[in-house]
Amino acid sequence: MTKELFDYPKQDASGATCVAQAWAKVPPSLNKDEKHQIIQSIKSALIKQNAVLVAHYYVDGDIQDLAWETGGFVADSLEMAKFGKNHSAQKLIIAGVKFMGESAKILSPEKTVLMPDLDATCSLDLGCPADDFIKFCDAHPDREVVVYANTSAAVKARADWMVTSSCALAIAHHLKEQGKKILWAPDRHLGRYIQDQTGADMLLWEGHCIVHDEFKGIELETLKSKHPDAMILVHPESPAHVVDLADVVGSTSAMIKAVVEGTAKEYIVATDKGILHRMRQLAPEKILIEAPTAGNSATCKSCAHCPWMAMNGLQGILDCLTKQSGEIFIDEDVRIKAKICIEKMLDFTANHPELLAKAQHGFVKHIGAA
Ligand code: 13P
Ligand code: SF4
Repeated sequence: MTKELFDYPKQDASGATCVAQAWAKVPPSLNKDEKHQIIQSIKSALIKQNAVLVAHYYVDGDIQDLAWETGGFVADSLEMAKFGKNHSAQKLIIAGVKFMGESAKILSPEKTVLMPDLDATCSLDLGCPADDFIKFCDAHPDREVVVYANTSAAVKARADWMVTSSCALAIAHHLKEQGKKILWAPDRHLGRYIQDQTGADMLLWEGHCIVHDEFKGIELETLKSKHPDAMILVHPESPAHVVDLADVVGSTSAMIKAVVEGTAKEYIVATDKGILHRMRQLAPEKILIEAPTAGNSATCKSCAHCPWMAMNGLQGILDCLTKQSGEIFIDEDVRIKAKICIEKMLDFTANHPELLAKAQHGFVKHIGAA
């Protein structure tokens, strides 16, 4: 088992930031026979147990393929939440990171929600501890509290709205039109992007995604000069100088859609490289180039792969089914409160297709909806 160290930000209510260590476990690689055997066992256990596999685009390609093959789903965080809620399966196996499993449990308490590794979290979630966040909110009672999906259930329980990258622009625009001031957490890059696009009055928490934070504007410009006809696709968790170079800014689904529907031959992709698996499947004729995370302006050499998404493995999925391991439990009071802001987002996305469509073409320049 590989063990690595990653930095992530923490912040207290006064706004001071400190750095702590996170670690991630990568499942051991399997040979062809082992993989085949595990996949077969998962397939029969899913049927026997009335379970369904729901995966994010960043997890290993074998897991994504298995989800599709077994009647499951691979999607962005908004679509994953909707799918889990609406599916008739009694058991949801969520291959992604913890906030995705928690969202599923919050929305479907009657279902058993299992994850391959409960230590698979997210630097945004880690960087926004509930106690400090609650103090921060209490200090700004005049603001509507809007949190990104990448947060704990306890943080969501204090929020008025939850958003994902698919609907954040539309919801912030809607709140601004209502004259509301926003307290935003935790991703400062996404917050700044929404602020720029909507002109909303937003107070930002200072979190960041350790994966997207490593994309570099200067190196991206150099790469673009070598591929002048390439379209640049950027996830809005990336820093401003990277977002500014983008032809399309959007959720993982929006980025995939841009590759499938785009007329360009080449695409520079600034998000976790796990997404390339789905892009290649849907648009095999397109040339996909990973955006740079290294170079003169880099603080470290990173691999553009989320260490927590990488903790999802086939053996972990089988363990969920055979040992009932990795079950998500949420305190019922917290769950009931957290559900309100998620349901609000789901109602909004169902009832305001026109605003989502408007956001898709960007209020200023880019898109933000799948
Ligand atoms: P999406 O909702 O766009 O899939 O993003 C989730 C995420 O964690 C990106 O880093
Ligand atoms: Fe969190 Fe970043 Fe990993 Fe997404 S890629 S789950 S935001 S750490």
